[in-house]
Amino acid sequence: MEFGGPCWLIHGSITSRFAIYSIGLATVAYVPYLTWLIWFHPLSRFPVKALHGKYGDVVRWAPNELSFACADAWKDIYDRRKDGKVLTKDPVWYRKDATMRAEHIVNADDPARHAEIHKMMAYAFSAKALLEQEDLILQYTGQLGEAIKEQSARGPINLDAAIWTLPIVPYFQYWLTPKAVREGGARYAMESKEDILRGERDGPKSDRIDFVSYILKKRQELNITDSQLAAHSNALIVAGSETSATVLSGLFFYLCKHPDVYAKRKKEVRSDFTSADEIMAKGAEGLSYLTACTNETFRIYPPIPIAMPRVTPKGSCTITGCFVPEGTVIGVYVWSVTHNPENFNDPDAFHPERWFEKSDNLDASNPFLMGPRMCMGINMTWIEVRVMAAQIAHMFDFELEDKTFD
Ligand code: HEM
Ligand SMILES: *[C@@H]1O[C@H](CO)[C@@H](O)[C@H](O)[C@H]1NC(C)=O
Ligand SMILES: *[C@@H]1O[C@H](CO)[C@@H](O)[C@H](O)[C@H]1NC(C)=O
Ligand SMILES: *[C@@H]1O[C@H](CO)[C@@H](O)[C@H](O)[C@H]1NC(C)=O
Repeated sequence: MEFGGPCWLIHGSITSRFAIYSIGLATVAYVPYLTWLIWFHPLSRFPVKALHGKYGDVVRWAPNELSFACADAWKDIYDRRKDGKVLTKDPVWYRKDATMRAEHIVNADDPARHAEIHKMMAYAFSAKALLEQEDLILQYTGQLGEAIKEQSARGPINLDAAIWTLPIVPYFQYWLTPKAVREGGARYAMESKEDILRGERDGPKSDRIDFVSYILKKRQELNITDSQLAAHSNALIVAGSETSATVLSGLFFYLCKHPDVYAKRKKEVRSDFTSADEIMAKGAEGLSYLTACTNETFRIYPPIPIAMPRVTPKGSCTITGCFVPEGTVIGVYVWSVTHNPENFNDPDAFHPERWFEKSDNLDASNPFLMGPRMCMGINMTWIEVRVMAAQIAHMFDFELEDKTFD
């Protein structure tokens, strides 16, 4: 222990087993449905992974739904296909209405409409825009460091809770409070609409260009209603904060559980940088062991572990060589494909070295999906995770208070 406090607690996090199934995009809107799906659905007592273990790589887990656990299904379901067929988002799962569930970047299911929205948002995710936001990420990392220092002087801390208090999606600081969105759910979604509209009328509180600025620019042209404006903001916050917080929590948890990995990772960051404030997005890219640890966390503890559902097109299509009739809801079950021993040796073991050894089927892990509906925040996430994980690891030493915590 090099800094202060008696011991460091990473606790409770690390979202409970049930949460694993409940983390989805647009969670705000889907909480009741997910609750039903997880606890009350007739199939709820049969975890999907167990089903795949028993019945193989393709499981019919509802009358009209198939779950895939094989790596080849990724391209066939989510990527642009050679035969030109398009599997669209399942309108039942990604359902919409005129108010609370207005159309937004994640639930837009018509490919042409989605393309317009995607184009509008792409500026906010460009390399240039990300660079402009870097100082905010650094600022939040500094805040996290301060909070850890202060709390640890008093005793063990809950690192997961500390991560959760961060506005991890930096773009919204002038418009919304991400924490309040998570806590207040649907009610807050509508209140935040008022905030944004007030901002539109009065002008933003700063010169910083953010997501909302890009949406406002195209609002007229793309006929974006007030409700849709609020829905976009909420979708981005939900998509970007819970997911990033989960992977950071998971990363620290697995590091603490594996002292050999922890030691290597600490050595890397402390030999590449002499102080924490030297660590910025560009330099942190070179931390290859940290990258491998993060890839391994994404694999073993994917923030979105479920199958994002798509509908097969008119006239059917083939998935990994199997014929699937039109109108079937299908997806790759992320947790199953990344814990499938056909893809990864000893899949339940946290083993970052597998990302260098390359004897596993590494392409089977796609925590951000692929194709036209792939996560737009992937590059932003890598900056956040690298900078935060590296700076915090440079400043502090961690250990689990409860070594048996699982
Ligand atoms: C650990 C971090 C993250 C993971 C694992 C993740 C994962 C995903 C996944 C799996 C999807 C596809 C969802 C679907 O098919 O319905 C998605 C979509 C999306 N994500 Fe992320 N995400 C992360 C962070 C972020 C961040 C930081 C942002 C930025 C605000 C973001 C913005 C988006 C957007 C805008 C979409 C919709 C893209 C589209 O449909 O065109 N994500 N994400
Ligand atoms: C917006 O609405 C107008 C009038 O209803 C319509 O003509 C136009 O095609 C719409 N634009 C888009 C991009 O949907
Ligand atoms: C981590 O994963 C990404 C995406 O799959 C890959 O491009 C990269 O080479 C991997 N690197 C390491 C060191 O694990
Ligand atoms: C992420 O960055 C890479 C390299 O700059 C770029 O090719 C890719 O299109 C970016 N992805 C997204 C979703 O912005």
